[in-house]
Amino acid sequence: MYKEQIELAKEHFAKILERELARVERMKSDTEVVDFSNLPKTIIGIVGGDGIGPFIAEQTQKVLEHLLHEKIANGKIELRVIEGLTIENRIAKMQAIPDDVLAQLKECHLILKGPTTTPAKGDGMPNIESANVAMRREFDLFANVRPVKVPQLGIDWVFFRENTEGEYILGSQGIEVTPDLAIDFKATTTQGSERIIRAAFEYARKNGKNRVTVVTKANVVKTTDGKFLEIAAEVAKDYPEITWDDWYIDIMTAKLLDESRRTDFQVMVMPNLYGDILTDEAAQLQGGVGTAGSANIGNKHAMFEAIHGSAPRMVAEGRAKYADPSSLIRAAAMMLEHMGLQTEAKNLQMALEICGQFERNVVLTGRADGATNDQYTDYILETLNDPNLAQKYESYMK
Ligand code: IPM
Ligand code: MG
Repeated sequence: MYKEQIELAKEHFAKILERELARVERMKSDTEVVDFSNLPKTIIGIVGGDGIGPFIAEQTQKVLEHLLHEKIANGKIELRVIEGLTIENRIAKMQAIPDDVLAQLKECHLILKGPTTTPAKGDGMPNIESANVAMRREFDLFANVRPVKVPQLGIDWVFFRENTEGEYILGSQGIEVTPDLAIDFKATTTQGSERIIRAAFEYARKNGKNRVTVVTKANVVKTTDGKFLEIAAEVAKDYPEITWDDWYIDIMTAKLLDESRRTDFQVMVMPNLYGDILTDEAAQLQGGVGTAGSANIGNKHAMFEAIHGSAPRMVAEGRAKYADPSSLIRAAAMMLEHMGLQTEAKNLQMALEICGQFERNVVLTGRADGATNDQYTDYILETLNDPNLAQKYESYMK
């Protein structure tokens, strides 16, 4: 029975295996790492995306132009706006990232990207892969770094989400073997696991953190998550000064809400999908996904984005101008850090925290009873320009 369907599925699976094994070989030979703090000229591509994306990207560009104006004026940095990564254009070309857009992105060292719409089954749009997922894969941006900080609650977490494997890498390549049987694939490699786990431990070492927590579901998803956990145990041996522990994703989501335990966590590392879920939960504690930024780091490129989607509902209801730009501005701060511009990055982070968590003179609600994103960005800029910024921040931290 179903002989023909099984044969077709086998052929499909064989192709997947060939591609994945080729990817493993590419990872093995990809050892050269670009130092982004040491480029003669840095080109930053700014991609608006869809929905609220162009609105918050415009505000973020304003902040970058302010902080980098000297370097832009003397040609050390170029902000290059790249159009065309919209759902309409992607559907017209039937490509996750249209070729001409991809070619332009490849000319940039760093990318700052607004959210892009991802078609889902049943929404009437064609099955186009997520532009985020495609970009992460295309540029091999394996480390998705997502910090969440709520000083009043003693929360200071950095999530290292594996960004190129797991359920995601083959997310658009599942098969409906018969109308009754759908199969998706999850892929985990030694190289892919090792590089993200090592990135987490390196970060801990460089930033004076003494604990790394590995999150899997290795008790059930034994082969792939089991590999991830096994590799974590190996990598941890190179970092004897750092304590490490492992948790399953279900209890981990509970522990992030446990006031007596959650402040113990520092650096967390996990496969792709668990990181997707856990970081939304964590961001909610900080004030919502609209407040959280994210770095997607690879050996040769890096892309910085908000952790949320394009919020089409806000646009449909005419509320795009009330969307919180903090997420993307926070991502810009991470980008400045990645470029070695530590002072600019630190100042921007302090201003974001003062505006969003402590002072709150201008407040966004996502609706007309709150500030517009333009007003909020001006508030951030004003705070940045305060000559007593650092003292102000310290006084709140006491
Ligand atoms: C994120 C987003 C994306 C993801 C979506 C838009 C594909 O939720 O960056 O966390 O799942 O990775
Ligand atoms: Mg997500």
